[in-house]
Amino acid sequence: MSAFSSSPRSSWSNRWAYIMVTVGSSVGLGNIWRFPYMTGSQGGSAFVLVYLVCVLLVGIPVLMAETLIGRRGRGNPVSSMLNVSEESGRSPWWAALGWTGMIGALLILSYYSVVSGWIVNYVWKFLTGFTVLSVGEAKSGFEDLLADPLSLAFCHSVFVALTIAVVARGVVSGIERANRVLMPALFLILILLAVWGGVTGDIAGAAHFMFDFSPEKLTGDVILSALGHAFFSLSLGMGAIMAYGSYLRRETSIFTTSLWVVAAGVLVGLFAGLAIFALTFGFGIQPTEGAGLILKTLPLTFAHMPGGRIFGLFFFLLVLFAAWTSAISLLEPFVSWLTERMGWRRPLSAWVSGAFSWAVGLLVCLSFNRWENARVFGKNFFEILEFSTSCIAMPLTGLAIAVFVGWRMREAFVREEIALSPKVFALWYGVLRYFVPLAIGIVFVRESGFLGW
Ligand code: PHE
Repeated sequence: MSAFSSSPRSSWSNRWAYIMVTVGSSVGLGNIWRFPYMTGSQGGSAFVLVYLVCVLLVGIPVLMAETLIGRRGRGNPVSSMLNVSEESGRSPWWAALGWTGMIGALLILSYYSVVSGWIVNYVWKFLTGFTVLSVGEAKSGFEDLLADPLSLAFCHSVFVALTIAVVARGVVSGIERANRVLMPALFLILILLAVWGGVTGDIAGAAHFMFDFSPEKLTGDVILSALGHAFFSLSLGMGAIMAYGSYLRRETSIFTTSLWVVAAGVLVGLFAGLAIFALTFGFGIQPTEGAGLILKTLPLTFAHMPGGRIFGLFFFLLVLFAAWTSAISLLEPFVSWLTERMGWRRPLSAWVSGAFSWAVGLLVCLSFNRWENARVFGKNFFEILEFSTSCIAMPLTGLAIAVFVGWRMREAFVREEIALSPKVFALWYGVLRYFVPLAIGIVFVRESGFLGW
């Protein structure tokens, strides 16, 4: 039994609630927006296959390690790291991992909510009868939004306010209640959309594109970007899982819940991919549209479907729900630190942390228009933020978590907390100690090498 488990702390009502909130964190723009466009531009099935392997070999072990630290430390990411490293007689400097995670999460939130603001804008467009009839119209619909800092800032603000509203209500009453409703709704809407794609679109083409493995497409680039995406899409290395794990009851199995979370996340991604590609191919649109795949192409697709306005609305609502539940988990780590460490009330903590991400997000809004030419190393502010968080902070923190749990925590504590049978333990521990640091290390070197380091 860990020394910190006696402290009073609210817990998720049950295992199901924990699985729902963690699925809520991991399933977001990463699965529904990034996964299809990466699959589209990275050769389809090869990317999907490597992504699945990486989720299994990197995602599950690190997810378990992060949850383990959170539950054993029973606090915000910083105090969890402090508690757990002190218990194993290690340096308090390991708490730095909590800090990089918490700050990185707030910075991710600042641009994540601007991108989510685009979705807010499209929900509004579809509610008010938006329709596009040509590729040109669809593209200019999105480009006009990017060129308008006021609309961007307004939609971004709406999204940040939605996120703060849930986190301010607290971990059990706010986050849990929202996720309990939103996550099953998300699954339902996705299944409907995939069925619709099957009936009207080219589902066979989509399945062929995603699952017919062609070895010649398996390049080093594909392997490494699939590994990186596995990392981002499971919310690893940002303190989010640590913060959620700290509310996990002791009797719940970390292993089983992690498997559920990963399976649900992967299924959502695959459903979203199938639905989007079936619709995309059905209407003769290229899968290689890049980051604009959803926002530039799908409105056109929906415009040509009978009842497409309703489906368009459903689709963008689904993306918005998913982004919202991820954003909540990006705000929670710092809010839990302010509440526990500084003694602030939760609503105040949520508004102050949210205001920070909101203010940085305003600069992100300007980087698409007024400040488009203000660049460092050829990158605008949005791209710099994205790079420094997802390419530097996430892989480094995740790598360090694997090293900490695999090499620095006392094995007896790890064994006790993770509570696995000896064989499964040996497998997980071995993968965490050797394979994970190596794999994440390669992603990090590759992504920094990308910029010519
Ligand atoms: N996993 C989320 C997504 O796919 C993003 C995220 C990253 C959330 C890190 C929390 C922490 O959209």
